[in-house]
Amino acid sequence: MPASIQITNVSKTYQVASDEQSIAQKLGLKPKDRKPFQAISKINIKIPKGSFTTIFGPNGSGKSTLFKIISGLEDPSSGSVMINNQSVSDARIGFVFQNYRDSMLTWRSAIGNVKLALEARGVPENERHDLALEYLKKVNMAHIANKPFYSLSGGQAQLVSIARAFAFQPDVLLMDEPFSALDFQTSLGMMEALLKLWQEEKITTLFISHDIDEAVYLADQVMVLNPNPGSIRKVIPVDFKRPRPISLISDKKFFEVRSKVLEEFRRGVKP
Ligand SMILES: Nc1ncnc2c1ncn2[C@@H]1O[C@H](COP(=O)(O)OP(=O)(O)OP(=O)(O)O)[C@@H](O)[C@H]1O
Ligand SMILES: [Mg+2]
Repeated sequence: MPASIQITNVSKTYQVASDEQSIAQKLGLKPKDRKPFQAISKINIKIPKGSFTTIFGPNGSGKSTLFKIISGLEDPSSGSVMINNQSVSDARIGFVFQNYRDSMLTWRSAIGNVKLALEARGVPENERHDLALEYLKKVNMAHIANKPFYSLSGGQAQLVSIARAFAFQPDVLLMDEPFSALDFQTSLGMMEALLKLWQEEKITTLFISHDIDEAVYLADQVMVLNPNPGSIRKVIPVDFKRPRPISLISDKKFFEVRSKVLEEFRRGVKP
């Protein structure tokens, strides 16, 4: 069931900055001063049920950290995240990452990977095949259903990962730069396919992007982050009606919203 997300005053301080730690490790040294490092500071936002929010912020502004907290992989140092007024540990979270191959069983077929999500959801075995195929059809990938995952192109593999994520019917879907390894043309097709699927399923989705056009095109709202430590600079609503043709990206109205997002981003990263 799509769920709302309430993020209240969430801050995260790591005990040692990871870059400092890894450099020290490479040099065979112990990090001298184990200074705590604040990755995010006082994030407050309510994400409505069934909405699509993109997160647009510079490297190191705590985007992935926020995802780890929402998914329960990390605890916040202070503040809380509630999904449908319950703790994150009670929620069903779906993920799609940039490195899609890492989270899939590459020797299994495309459909075999989607079936795993259905199995995890408790769908009876005799219903899994047809339902998995339905999800592959939704992203136009039914024709590669029986191919082993390792043999798929980057774009195909990512569409199968997306189909699997939706088949899992999570309360919340977290997507961390899922299209950044794909070429421009392929990622345009991905955006359309993703929105089509999302509009059918209306799963509450958070999507991290470094591509401003993608961030605006997909979103109901764009969350622009400040770095050092990561915090919300501005949440910019995007009201274009759906379904959105990809040609929207060259529309003057689109450009106006894009400019607002860019302006906030630039103010945020200014020294
Ligand atoms: N486990 C960790 N231990 C210590 N520091 C960490 C850890 N994970 C992240 N950090 C630090 O927290 C900050 C935010 O990291 P995070 O990965 O959340 O940023 P990001 O916005 O996702 O960046 P990118 O755009 O590069 O993916 C960075 O400075 C990073 O070095
Ligand atoms: Mg990240």
